[in-house]
Amino acid sequence: MKHNHPVAVVTGGAGALGAAIGRRFAENGDTIVLLDIDSEGLDSTVAAITADTGRPVIGRVVDIADPTAVAAAVGAIDDEFGRLDRLVNNAAVNHRAALSDIEDELWDRSMAVNLRGPMALCRAALPIWTRTGVGHVVNIGSRTWQSGGPSAYVASKAGVVGLTRSLALELGRLGITCNAVAPSMVVTPFTRGERTDTEFDRFVERHTSLSPLGRLATADDVVDAVEFLASAKARFVTGEVLHVCGGAQLAAAP
Ligand SMILES: NC(=O)c1ccc[n+]([C@@H]2O[C@H](COP(=O)([O-])OP(=O)(O)OC[C@H]3O[C@@H](n4cnc5c(N)ncnc54)[C@H](O)[C@@H]3O)[C@@H](O)[C@H]2O)c1
Repeated sequence: MKHNHPVAVVTGGAGALGAAIGRRFAENGDTIVLLDIDSEGLDSTVAAITADTGRPVIGRVVDIADPTAVAAAVGAIDDEFGRLDRLVNNAAVNHRAALSDIEDELWDRSMAVNLRGPMALCRAALPIWTRTGVGHVVNIGSRTWQSGGPSAYVASKAGVVGLTRSLALELGRLGITCNAVAPSMVVTPFTRGERTDTEFDRFVERHTSLSPLGRLATADDVVDAVEFLASAKARFVTGEVLHVCGGAQLAAAP
């Protein structure tokens, strides 16, 4: 090994949940690589996590829908560190459109980012994992894969579940685990979208009522689940979907 600390890669690392996941890994002593298309967001996230944890945090501008860029980014991680202990496929886009308004280009983009992206990251990491035999993949899905919702988003997230189960089989032979976390709504810019205050209040109310535990998910709820699945504590868990929904996966669509 070229590097003594575990290396964790988080896609969408400049976003709300990605930054929270990266921060937790840094607090635990990992070296962090955050991949995102938002270069300003990356700069501020890297600066904040570095200042608070003192761990090396690297930000790389990568469009995960571009398999060539993904291969280059993972190749650079291999050259630099020679290991990839935790990969969290968290970046996603949400094309919220009814069937009549679905735009083909945005549908394709949803699939390219949300579904092909995680595959491309895992494919690019194969040479590392074949050599090291150490790694945990956590794909961020969504509770909506069960309930339904905006088709492009939900179809991609249901695909993430199929991808997770398939990669668990293939990567298991290398000693790598692959699981998914399927959260319910967390208040982030992703869920706020273009909604007015009134629309958003109603949206929050509807989502809160779905959980028997009577509240929304928090970023920490999601981070705790990711931390577990990306750790040795989950060493014999693979191919699973862990719903972090307060039971909302049992409810009908809002
Ligand atoms: N927030 C929620 O309520 C919620 C609920 C269920 C699931 N999720 C899932 O959690 C994940 C993170 O959500 P969030 O709320 O933090 O969203 P967010 O919008 O804050 O973060 C997403 C990040 O992904 C980045 N990104 C988008 N396209 C990219 C691309 N092509 N290449 C690289 N980076 C790209 C964005 O720039 C952004 O920084 C997503 O997978 C989302 O589907 C979120």
